[in-house]
Amino acid sequence: MPPIRKERPQDGPEIESLLDRAFGADRHSRSSYRLREGIEPVHSLCLVAEAEGRILGTIRHWPVRIGTTGSALLLGPIAVDPPQEGRGIGGLLIRTALDRAAAEGHTAAVAVGAQGYLGRFGFKSAARYGINLPGLKQSGRLLALALAPGALDGVKGAIARVSPEAASCPP
Ligand SMILES: CC(C)(COP(=O)(O)OP(=O)(O)OC[C@H]1O[C@@H](n2cnc3c(N)ncnc32)[C@H](O)[C@@H]1OP(=O)(O)O)[C@@H](O)C(=O)NCCC(=O)NCCS
Repeated sequence: MPPIRKERPQDGPEIESLLDRAFGADRHSRSSYRLREGIEPVHSLCLVAEAEGRILGTIRHWPVRIGTTGSALLLGPIAVDPPQEGRGIGGLLIRTALDRAAAEGHTAAVAVGAQGYLGRFGFKSAARYGINLPGLKQSGRLLALALAPGALDGVKGAIARVSPEAASCPP
């Protein structure tokens, strides 16, 4: 299994190219990208899988708000270079990131993705918590995960972009 390390600034172009291959170059029009605009990612949770100097997989996280008082990590994008799929790299990236997130004190994560895949890591339909993402057409793809017991109890409402000032605060 390739080692996982933190993303470095110079990885940017290779990661963007991998994301274009995985999601298509029109990926920036997706609702989840509105939540990231102008906001710094959570750098400690932006990881890559690398082998022989090539990036084989990437995962990034952003901070988001939920409703009036809630907060969470937005997991994603997560992508593995297509020829490398099915080797467990995606799972390793997700487990490593979620373990680090919990260790850093983050209490919840949300994601837009396939429940058939992210359900393996404990993600459940966000609708069961009353959490929604305005503008998301396939609402069944909105998922949520409590990283600490009960962290999503009473958390409900729309997922929104954090304010740039709040995003610069440590978790
Ligand atoms: C989804 C993705 C990150 C998985 O990476 P990976 O390294 O192949 O994942 P793993 O090797 O850990 O797991 C592979 C397993 O996940 C399953 N899987 C992959 N994508 C899936 C999906 N969209 N829905 C359901 N299951 C999926 C595979 O069928 C495989 O199942 P198996 O273990 O029963 O054989 C990768 O396929 C990818 O980059 N896809 C395109 C980008 C994308 O859709 N990202 C968001 C996904 S929520």
